[in-house]
Amino acid sequence: MARLLLVSNRLPVTVKVEHGEVLVTRSAGGLATGMKGPHERSGGLWLGYPGDVSRLQPDQRAALEARLEELRYVPLHLSPGEVSRFYEGFSNGVLWPLFHYMLDRVPLGGERDWESYRRVNERFADLVAAHHREGDIVWVHDYQLMLVPGLLRKKIPNARIGFFLHIPFPSSEVFRILPWRTQLLEGLLGADLIGFHTLSYLRHFASALLLVNGLEANVDRVFTEGREVRLGAFPMGIDAAALSTLAGSPEVAAEAQAFRQPGQRILLGIDRLDYTKGIPRRLLALERLLEREPSLRGKVRLVQVTVPSRTNVEAYQGFRSRVDELVGRINGAYATVHSVPIHSMYRSFNERQLASLYRAADVMLVTPLRDGMNLVAKEFVASRTDEDGVLVLSELAGAASELADALLVNPYDIGGVAAALKRALTMPENERRQRMQNLRQHVLEHDVHGWAQSFLSTLEEQSEASHGRALG
Ligand code: G6P
Repeated sequence: MARLLLVSNRLPVTVKVEHGEVLVTRSAGGLATGMKGPHERSGGLWLGYPGDVSRLQPDQRAALEARLEELRYVPLHLSPGEVSRFYEGFSNGVLWPLFHYMLDRVPLGGERDWESYRRVNERFADLVAAHHREGDIVWVHDYQLMLVPGLLRKKIPNARIGFFLHIPFPSSEVFRILPWRTQLLEGLLGADLIGFHTLSYLRHFASALLLVNGLEANVDRVFTEGREVRLGAFPMGIDAAALSTLAGSPEVAAEAQAFRQPGQRILLGIDRLDYTKGIPRRLLALERLLEREPSLRGKVRLVQVTVPSRTNVEAYQGFRSRVDELVGRINGAYATVHSVPIHSMYRSFNERQLASLYRAADVMLVTPLRDGMNLVAKEFVASRTDEDGVLVLSELAGAASELADALLVNPYDIGGVAAALKRALTMPENERRQRMQNLRQHVLEHDVHGWAQSFLSTLEEQSEASHGRALG
C-alpha cells in the first residue's frame, strides 16, 4: 500500500495550556474522529495545526514535538494573525456559513482574510511538498484547504492528490456569491479525485464548474488543463464495529442504566455548539410538544450535550447565550420539583460516556439546519446493540440520504419536529426494532474503513489513468 499523507487544518489532537500544564486532547468533529483509523493503518503522516503552542516553555515544546512525531503527526503552526484571519475569519466566518446556506451570517468585505487563507494554503502546500516522496498519495481534507490541491499540483505535477469535502457543497446559485469562486474551484481542480458525501453535493459542484468556469462535467469526469479530474460521492462512515463493542460492554450498559429514571423517557442531543446544528429550533419543538401534550410533562427529559467549539468566532459567542436563554425559559415554564425538561451540559465527554448516553436514550435528536453528513446519527445507531431507540433525523443532513429508517424531519418546521417526537415516543416496540435493525445493518456495513478504501482505490485508479495519459 502506498504511503498516505493526510492533510487537514486540524490535527486529530489539540494542544492546550491550562495552569501551566500541557494538555493534549482529542479534537472534536467528524473529520478528526473519522480519519484516525485510516491514518493508523496506512503508516503515513498527518499534517495539520496542533493548536496554540505559543505559551509552551522550550522543554514542553520539545516534549510535545517528540510526542507528535511518535504519532506521525507533522505540525503546521499558525500565528495568532493566521488563526484570526485564515481560520476564524475566512474559513469559519465566510466559507462555513455560506456553504451551510446561512447567508445572513457572511460578513461584508473579507479581502484581508482571503489573502491570509491563500497564504496559509500555500504554507500547507509547501509543507506537504517538503515531506512528499515519489509514490505517496496525498489526501487533502475540507473547506479550510481548498487551494492546496492546485498549489501542490504546480509544485509536483505528477503527484497523486485526492480532496474530500466534509461539509455540504451548496447550490451553485449560492456558491457563485463568493468573490473568490473561480480561485476556489481552480484550487480544487488540482486534485485527481474530488469527493463529496452525497450525489447532490456533487451535482451542485458540477453546476458551479459550468456556471463559474464554463467547464462541463461528463457525469463524473471533468477535463481541464490536459488532465482528467474525477468527481465522486463517498458517504463517510464511522468505526462502527469498535463503537458497537464499546457500547455493548457491561460497564457501558450499567452506566446507561444509571442515567435512566423510572417512568421517564430520555431524548438526547449531542452537538458541537454550532448555529448550523439547529439547537434552538429543537428546543422550541420540545416546548411545543410539552405545550400540546400536558401528559408528557415530567415524563420526558432532553439531555442536551453541547461541545464547546470555535469560541473566538463572533457568531458562536452570541449563539451560546441564545441557547442558554431558551433552556432557562423552557425549564422555568415546565420544571417540577422532581424534574427539569432540559438537562443541558456545555462540555466535552469521552467516548465511553458518549456511548452510555447513546445507550440510555429513547430518542436521539439530530436536527441540523444543514450538515455535510452528521456522524453523531451513525454513532447513535452503532451504539444500539440492544436494537432499540428511535432516531429523529434532519432531512437536510447528508446522513438522511442513507438512513431512510430514521424519522426524517424538516428541522425548520417546529410543529413537524414536535409531531415526530411524539411519534418516536409512542412508536410500537416491533416497529422501533425493525427500523433500528435496518439502520444498524447499513451503518455496520458502510463504515469508515470501507469509505477510506473506496476513496483511495478510486484515487489510485484515476491518478494512474490521468498521469499515464499526461506522460504519454
Ligand atoms: C467539522 C468540519 C471539520 C472541523 C470540525 C471541528 O466537522 O468539517 O473540518 O475540524 O468541524 O471544527 P474546528 O473548527 O474545531 O476544527
